[in-house]
Amino acid sequence: MYSVEFKNITKRFGNLTANDNISLSIKSNSVHCILGENGAGKSTLMKILFGVYKQDSGEIYIKGKKISFNSPLDAIDSGIGMLYQHFMLIDDFTVMENVILGKELTAGLKLNFPKIRKALLEIIGRYNLNVELDRKVSDLSISEQQKVELLKILYRDSGIIILDEPTAVLSPVEVYEFFNIVRNFIKDGRTVLLITHKLAEVKEIAETVTVLRKGKNVYETERKKLDIGELSRQIIGDIFPKEKIKEEDIEYISGKQKKPACVVKLERISYSEKGKNILNNFELNINEGEIIGVCGVEGNGQNEITDILTGIIKNYKGEYERKTDNISVVPDDRLKKGMIKEFSVGESILLRKKGENKITQKRALYRENEIKKMYDIMIPYPGCPMAKLSGGNQQKAIVAREIQLDSKFIIFSHPTRGVDIKASSFIYNKIIGEKNKGNAILLISSDVDELIFLSDRIVILYKGRILKEYTKEEIGKSLETGRMKFLEEVGKYMIGITE
Ligand SMILES: Nc1ncnc2c1ncn2[C@@H]1O[C@H](COP(=O)(O)OP(=O)(O)O)[C@@H](O)[C@H]1O
Ligand SMILES: [Mg+2]
Repeated sequence: MYSVEFKNITKRFGNLTANDNISLSIKSNSVHCILGENGAGKSTLMKILFGVYKQDSGEIYIKGKKISFNSPLDAIDSGIGMLYQHFMLIDDFTVMENVILGKELTAGLKLNFPKIRKALLEIIGRYNLNVELDRKVSDLSISEQQKVELLKILYRDSGIIILDEPTAVLSPVEVYEFFNIVRNFIKDGRTVLLITHKLAEVKEIAETVTVLRKGKNVYETERKKLDIGELSRQIIGDIFPKEKIKEEDIEYISGKQKKPACVVKLERISYSEKGKNILNNFELNINEGEIIGVCGVEGNGQNEITDILTGIIKNYKGEYERKTDNISVVPDDRLKKGMIKEFSVGESILLRKKGENKITQKRALYRENEIKKMYDIMIPYPGCPMAKLSGGNQQKAIVAREIQLDSKFIIFSHPTRGVDIKASSFIYNKIIGEKNKGNAILLISSDVDELIFLSDRIVILYKGRILKEYTKEEIGKSLETGRMKFLEEVGKYMIGITE
């Protein structure tokens, strides 16, 4: 029995065919993973199922019955829930208000708050969602916000749950928890459609897998036949990543030259907000040509460190010295902090570049074209607003924009979150390129493999202070005892266990 059947779905945006005659069936009560490069058409297909877009042709069947949705409300009524790639929460509302919004409020019913609260607490308990109903969404970390979205879906009792790149924003420990939640969905008879870029996760949780490439369904397989090598070939297509980096390709600037100068120095930095201690005697030195990796579960002070470094937060205690005024930042939340959605790629580049902020269409298009070629960014049409680019392409555009500023100090916060494997290795190359130019780099990430690969030093941040530091040699040594073992060790520090 199939929960969902897509039959010959085609969806165009102008000249671009985002979904090209896709047929696909999802078995009831299982996890079906959908893979594909950024821009392959995954989110578009899911949004069609959820009633956000209407297909140009083709049909959708839910439990054997043909459906036609005019809006997400129709889809929700038919038992479909979607966790968007970008959350749809209202910052100023509490968790509970956000959950109720949309269901009861639009139904115009009189609300029985105690009853709703009881029902929500029951769901939170059953699925280990761990969110407080009365907290404001603006006070929550990204992973907590994600739980609010899940709570919304479960409160509506959706039997078919679409998860669009949910793990991109999670640390290893959080992914582990998240998958336990997903397993419980399956135990309860629900069906899950999961989009992810991480092949190890597919191996862990998928029962069936589909790969989309350039809008087409190009490959399907099932758990028993899963082969990671084959999957990555299918995702990328014929061109194998040129950008794949080998360790020996990385030149280090150390040795021959003079001792690298310190570019950024934070000493005994403490900071609190609304009486809550956020940073506690935080110390950090970044030299020329050095990548310092900050590892930690989100919400342990990462954002405040970035805000202090960039001058947004000024009322901290401690010393901050910096040798350069030009800082580039690739922010953690590209939608809220990284871009003005209505602007095109070219316009957003001009905006950031000193002396070029007189924006003319001609100059914007020229810049856009240049960056598009250099970074291989998929832009549906010239001058297209950033909002319409797929997530990975937005990320590439922001990385491109920040790197071309030629700053001596660059902060990369989750630079490859939600980015496919090909674009990730491309971004890694760019980061290493900046290091080789002698620039100082702060890399904030919850992807431990990424940190291991790029960092000269890794510090583990827990509750606003450094709980553990690894030098390059120590990282190398720990890896000899096995990656899993090292991940486990790092994972423990990340949640504050030090013994
Ligand atoms: N609303 C839109 N208007 C124009 N083009 C869009 C819109 N949404 C998506 N696209 C384009 O459709 C293609 C597929 O996008 P998407 O489904 O988001 O990819 P994925 O989720 O696989 O990364 C991309 O080239 C993207 O730029
Ligand atoms: Mg997407």
